[in-house]
Amino acid sequence: MKRLRILVLVREGLVPPETMEGYSEEEIDRWKVEFDVAATLRNMGHEVQVIGVFDDLGPIRRAITEGRPQIAFMLLEEFHGLGIYDGAIVTYLELLRQSYTGCNPRGLLLSRDKALSKKILRFHRISTPRFAVVPRGRSIQRMPRLRFPLIVKSVSEDASLGIAQASVVRDHEALAERIAFVHQRVASDALVEEYIEGRELYVGVMGNQRLQTFPIWEMVFSGLPDDVAKIATAKVKWDRKYQRKYGITTAAAEDLPVALAAKISRLCKRVYRELHLSGYARIDLRMSADGQVFVLEANANPNLAYGEDFAESAEIGGISYEGLLQRILNLGLTYRAPWKNTYSD
Ligand SMILES: Nc1ncnc2c1ncn2[C@@H]1O[C@H](COP(=O)(O)OP(=O)(O)O)[C@@H](O)[C@H]1O
Ligand SMILES: [Mg+2]
Repeated sequence: MKRLRILVLVREGLVPPETMEGYSEEEIDRWKVEFDVAATLRNMGHEVQVIGVFDDLGPIRRAITEGRPQIAFMLLEEFHGLGIYDGAIVTYLELLRQSYTGCNPRGLLLSRDKALSKKILRFHRISTPRFAVVPRGRSIQRMPRLRFPLIVKSVSEDASLGIAQASVVRDHEALAERIAFVHQRVASDALVEEYIEGRELYVGVMGNQRLQTFPIWEMVFSGLPDDVAKIATAKVKWDRKYQRKYGITTAAAEDLPVALAAKISRLCKRVYRELHLSGYARIDLRMSADGQVFVLEANANPNLAYGEDFAESAEIGGISYEGLLQRILNLGLTYRAPWKNTYSD
């Protein structure tokens, strides 16, 4: 394996320490992805420099001109606190003619906007819950096209930000209230979607042209009380105590007929292509009791921490964590960014 000079880009304040020893679980959770990636790349023999970025592109430019990395490992999910700007960072890297890992600017732009991606999916007849967008500054009229129960979320935020039990609404009053919550507290336009009762599935997809999927993954919420909606609220996703209390885990989906699993894999590859993704992504789905599968969203550059859904499902699919990171590097190096067609060095 070729030794690479790698520039790892992380959020300011998340440059990981040399060792995890002496840190609490809570502290480690803040920079676990950054730690796992940087430490593993070093163990693999690569030359690794990690820099923290907040609202200044200067350090990226300097690290690239001075260190001449062969590739930037993109762990930045925001710029100046705004998630939608990660696409601008990779655009900047392309302008500097720098290879990078993960998704290209167009795929990031399309997939970070849930409403826009759903419009594209519907155009291609890919099943996704029926929806409406309520922009900030606008209140709702009735929504005659949509059937209760509905779920209200942000069009642009991820990581279940703003998703709670109150997100699932059963009447107009609760709907209006939750839309106002998303507008004011999450500070974004609201996406109102038909609620799909059923199983929650995740599928890792990887590749630029030739795509590969990992075994279908499932969030298991069966330990939650009966009267609670089985959805990945922020608490379900991030609160370790809550997870332990209710036995919330993720694991390879059981009892999926082979033909259905193959169909889901093909569906996820179509989603990946139609949204112009590259590198690696995780597609979130819901499957109703009658076996109908709905695409919720595509996550470009999903959480890469060791032991998290993406890496775990890769491992069950036969790809070790080191192998996974190396593939991500190779995909970044071979991605045909526009500048590679006109320049060579
Ligand atoms: N239409 C829906 N039907 C049922 N559950 C949903 C629906 N939309 C979202 N959810 C639940 O909310 C969670 C977060 O929604 P998602 O669209 O994946 O946003 P995020 O970007 O925050 O992950 C999902 O994992 C799922 O549990
Ligand atoms: Mg999701």
